[in-house]
Amino acid sequence: MSDRPVGVFDSGLGGASVLREALIRLPFENYVYYGDNGNVPYGDKSEYEITKLAFECAYFLIGKGVKTMLIACNTATSAAIRAIREKLDIPVVSMEPAIKPACSEPGDGKILMMATAATTRLSRYQALKARMPDPGRVIDIPCPGLVDRIETGVFEDDAFDDLLYRFLSPYHGQKIDSIVLGCTHYVFIKNAISRYAALHFEGKPRLVDGNAATVRQLERVLVSNGLNNSAGKASVDFFTSGDADRLRPLFFSLLNRA
Ligand code: DGL
Repeated sequence: MSDRPVGVFDSGLGGASVLREALIRLPFENYVYYGDNGNVPYGDKSEYEITKLAFECAYFLIGKGVKTMLIACNTATSAAIRAIREKLDIPVVSMEPAIKPACSEPGDGKILMMATAATTRLSRYQALKARMPDPGRVIDIPCPGLVDRIETGVFEDDAFDDLLYRFLSPYHGQKIDSIVLGCTHYVFIKNAISRYAALHFEGKPRLVDGNAATVRQLERVLVSNGLNNSAGKASVDFFTSGDADRLRPLFFSLLNRA
C-alpha cells in the first residue's frame, strides 16, 4: 500500500503550489494530480455544486489507486471535506485559510483574508474565524475573478492591479499586519500582492499561506497510518478535465516556479 501514490486535487492549477511544497518535503513519495480545470472556478459556485465536483475529483483519484488524498483547494475543503472523509476509506488531508498563524502574531493592524467567495461564505471558515482570539481583526475579502486570470497563465507583478484595486482599495492607507492567501492559486501571485500592498498599505504586511502546514500534516498522516514511502521518486502524473495540451506545460512550469 505505501508504494501507491498520493492523490492531489484542486479546481485547477492552484494545487500545484501545495504539490510544489510536498515535492520538497516528501520527495520519496509519488503523486497523481487532478486539476478540474474544465470546471474552474469553484469559488463562484454553490456548496452543492462544489461538493458534487469535489467528489468527482476524489473518485477520479481513487480510480488511480491513491493511498491518501490531499485536497489542495480551500474552496473544495470548505464545501465537501466532511462528506468526502465520511465516504472514502483512505486518509484525507485538506486546506484551511491560514488565519491561525496570522492571528497569533501580535499587532494592532488588520488581517486581510483573501479567498474565494465560497470559502469566505461557508460555515467551515466562519467557524474557524470565530475560534480566533480576536476575530474582529480579520477582514474577509472575497476575490471573484482572480482565479480565472491566474488560470490563463498570467503572473506578471502588475497584471492584477485592476482586480486588487477592486478588492483592496477600501483598506488603502490602513495598517495591515498580514494578508492571508486563502486560496491555493493566490500563492502564485504573491509578488503581485506584496507589490500592491507596499504601495497602498501602512506597514509591511506579511503574506501568509497554509501550504507548508498542510504538507507537514500530510507527512504526519502518512507516517501515523504506516503509509509513508521511502522508495518513491517524486514522480508526478498530471490529469485534467480541461485542455491538457495547454495546461500540462503550464502546470509543470508552476511546479518549478520559485
Ligand atoms: N485553488 C482553489 C482554492 O484554494 C481555487 C478555487 C476556485 O476554483 O475558485 O480555493
